[in-house]
Amino acid sequence: MRKYTKGMQISKHFHELVPGGSHTYSKGNDQFPQMSPQIITHADGAYCWDVDGNQYIDWAMGNRVFILGHNNKVVNDAVKKAIDNSTNYTRPGILEYEVAQFAVDFFPVAEMVKFGKNGSDVTTAAVKLSRAYTNRTHVAVCKQHPFFSIHDWFIGSTNMNAGVIESERQYTIGFDYNDIEGVKKMFDQYHNKIACLILEPVKNDHPCNYDKDETCKEQCEKGICAKGKKNFLTELRDICTKNGTILIFDEMISGIRFDIRGAHHLWGVYPDLATYGKCISNGFSFSMLAGKRDILNLGGIMHDRERVFLLSQTHGSETVGLAAALATLKECERVNVNEHIWNLGGQLRKGFEQLIKEEGVGKYIKLIGFDCNPHILCTKENGTYWPELHTSFHEEVIDQGILIPWISITYAHTNLELDITLQALREGLRKIKKSVEMENIEDSFVGEAVKPVFRPFNKCKQGRCGRIYTDVEKLSCCK
Ligand SMILES: Cc1ncc(COP(=O)(O)O)c(C=O)c1O
Repeated sequence: MRKYTKGMQISKHFHELVPGGSHTYSKGNDQFPQMSPQIITHADGAYCWDVDGNQYIDWAMGNRVFILGHNNKVVNDAVKKAIDNSTNYTRPGILEYEVAQFAVDFFPVAEMVKFGKNGSDVTTAAVKLSRAYTNRTHVAVCKQHPFFSIHDWFIGSTNMNAGVIESERQYTIGFDYNDIEGVKKMFDQYHNKIACLILEPVKNDHPCNYDKDETCKEQCEKGICAKGKKNFLTELRDICTKNGTILIFDEMISGIRFDIRGAHHLWGVYPDLATYGKCISNGFSFSMLAGKRDILNLGGIMHDRERVFLLSQTHGSETVGLAAALATLKECERVNVNEHIWNLGGQLRKGFEQLIKEEGVGKYIKLIGFDCNPHILCTKENGTYWPELHTSFHEEVIDQGILIPWISITYAHTNLELDITLQALREGLRKIKKSVEMENIEDSFVGEAVKPVFRPFNKCKQGRCGRIYTDVEKLSCCK
């Protein structure tokens, strides 16, 4: 097995310096097998290296922040050129203006734009604008979409909500993806109270109204989903318009990946506000709120309505992120990044599904989601997520040199990396097959199994804690 000696030493000390030993929970020790790279030193293209000198094919790409691959020359050159002119000015910079004009021309959803540095900046700004515009209190979030913001309006609705006051929590309500009847009931229950609905336009499922519309189902299953037809997204659009509620599509993950202009553009359903971040600037810090002029303009200084404090940030106009975003979008269009990503993802799906069939482990592992954004899911036979199996599988795959906790295909991934990855995935499948047969999954990896980020106590193995909730299955950690 690979050695992680130096990484483990650093990681141990890191926890004494920084809570969580990381600046992002999803990169933490409780999210990966113990035998995995602890600290990364550098990355290039589709590869990264850890402090112990191990090399990996990196399918995770940070928190999905790359679309062209690590260390992309075109983007890096644009950034280097920008910083030679200094990075922040006393009045708005010319690049702020140029990127804004480019974005308004490029994204059909964008009548106006406002820039930030993180995804949470712009989702929270979208929520605030919606509340101000509608003069309403409630925010409806899609329950199947795990993350929208680090800020209290969202964190208050999770299982890790210590420090968020009750008055903040009560205004965030949930709805289920593809359950249009449930959405209608929610609008009845909270009549004239819902300021906005926020969701990723697509995640792992087609936006289909399967029960009600057979034609839509057929189309979806052929993969040419419902453009112009009534599907979940078009229904949401109608309901929001009818109720005077702002529809927000969070395009942080789906954004450039499904379609360079946003997944909603692929489906032809346009929200009032859309939020972009992550890979839009290929690894640099930049985010964008785009949408209707009437709403965004509340943050401006040329109207007579009550003023909204919309994203005024010291570093909002820093040129690094702006230059990176402009170069990334232009490069993505030039190389037709979407074609590459959908194709390679399709091959990954075909190859992995074939391996699963050959190894006979289809009851325990599958690839869910769209070809451009697939996800490996380890489950028990009853279909529920199996963290021990996930840990065991990934420990083996990592040992084979593949980092694939989530999948963020980039232009830098090619058939070469795909072939090497499929060989490693086969070894992972063989390992879990053996362990399932021997009924020793729990003992088939070093250390503890991965845990959910959103859990009330560090000891919890599940998100809802059996110490707090009486209706929850009691595990050993609940005592
Ligand atoms: C869908 C979605 N929205 C918003 C965010 C928040 O983005 P950031 O971490 O840049 O604040 C994330 C981050 O993972 C996300 O996945």
